[in-house]
Amino acid sequence: MSNTSKTVLITGATAGIGRMTALHLAKLGHHVIASGRKVAELAKLKTEAQGLGTLDTLVLDVTSKESIDAAVAAVTELTGGKGLDVLVNNAGFGVLGPTSEIDDAEMRRQYETNVFGLMAVTRAFLPQMRARRAGRIINVSSVGGRITLPFFGVYNSTKYAVESLSDALRYELRPFGIDVTLIEPGVIRTNFEATAVGNLSQFDATPYAGAVAKYEQMSKTADRFASNPIVIAKAIARAVNARRPAARYVAPRSTNFALLMSALLPTRVWDWAMRKVAFLNPKTLGVDGAALADATPAFPVTRVHGSPNAQPRASAN
Ligand SMILES: NC(=O)c1ccc[n+]([C@@H]2O[C@H](COP(=O)([O-])OP(=O)(O)OC[C@H]3O[C@@H](n4cnc5c(N)ncnc54)[C@H](OP(=O)(O)O)[C@@H]3O)[C@@H](O)[C@H]2O)c1
Repeated sequence: MSNTSKTVLITGATAGIGRMTALHLAKLGHHVIASGRKVAELAKLKTEAQGLGTLDTLVLDVTSKESIDAAVAAVTELTGGKGLDVLVNNAGFGVLGPTSEIDDAEMRRQYETNVFGLMAVTRAFLPQMRARRAGRIINVSSVGGRITLPFFGVYNSTKYAVESLSDALRYELRPFGIDVTLIEPGVIRTNFEATAVGNLSQFDATPYAGAVAKYEQMSKTADRFASNPIVIAKAIARAVNARRPAARYVAPRSTNFALLMSALLPTRVWDWAMRKVAFLNPKTLGVDGAALADATPAFPVTRVHGSPNAQPRASAN
């Protein structure tokens, strides 16, 4: 291993972005500790990494305190007491559904992994980094941590939380020599989509059933626009290898277009586009269109920039 080789622990490395990142970083000469819940998948990953580089595996469920404590002990042993150079908080998932119809239990489940799990793992590995006055925390957020998509309100809100927590950690940990970086993937071909649409029948009895069904159909065809997870593995590698990493890495680059549009378009135009992509119209929702027409001005009412009607985007705050 070279002098620039770092010990990197990745959460959620049994699939998708985490798995690809584990193999990519091992290939680049880093000592990878790939963690996840599925023992069989970890074993397959270890076999695949043979001959590529150094890759250890570790069982870690980010929602379990016992599991996190055991992981810290195992990492301390694996690194001869030194601890991690880099922690990649990647474990996460989203469940698609109308925001008002997702119940508390489902909402909490996403927060437990994406927000509380990420923070618990971070807290557990920080003391060793702080003591060494060195370390790096890389949080896998999403472009959905900066723009909200219809039916992804709950998931997106977990990533907005990750963005905010990461910003605060970046200010607070820099004096200890610890960098905090966000990775903001666009649409990536992984198991994410299958998990997200796994239980859509739970919304069959809601007013959104028709729109959700159409959206699911559309998202299947949209899969061909999804990027290979190597794009994100490379962005994470840039964040691992940089002398001073950036605060945010957006990947693939085309994702910047969505961010730009969301910043430039007046709220009403953006909202219209969001309703359009998610089939949120009176017909699909079974709403009386004539009654609605009296209450809601038709698009477009807003003139573009400089218009006295233009309102600041609420999500930009
Ligand atoms: N794919 C996209 O389009 C996309 C876009 C933006 C952001 N992201 C983010 O990228 C990250 C990785 O997602 P992915 O696309 O690679 O999806 P994925 O293929 O479904 O992989 C998710 C990984 O997270 C793991 N995980 C879930 N809950 C866990 C827990 N409690 N403890 C430990 N591991 C857990 C999964 O393990 P199990 O197999 O055990 O469930 C799996 O290894 C997530 O944070 C996601 O929000 C993805």
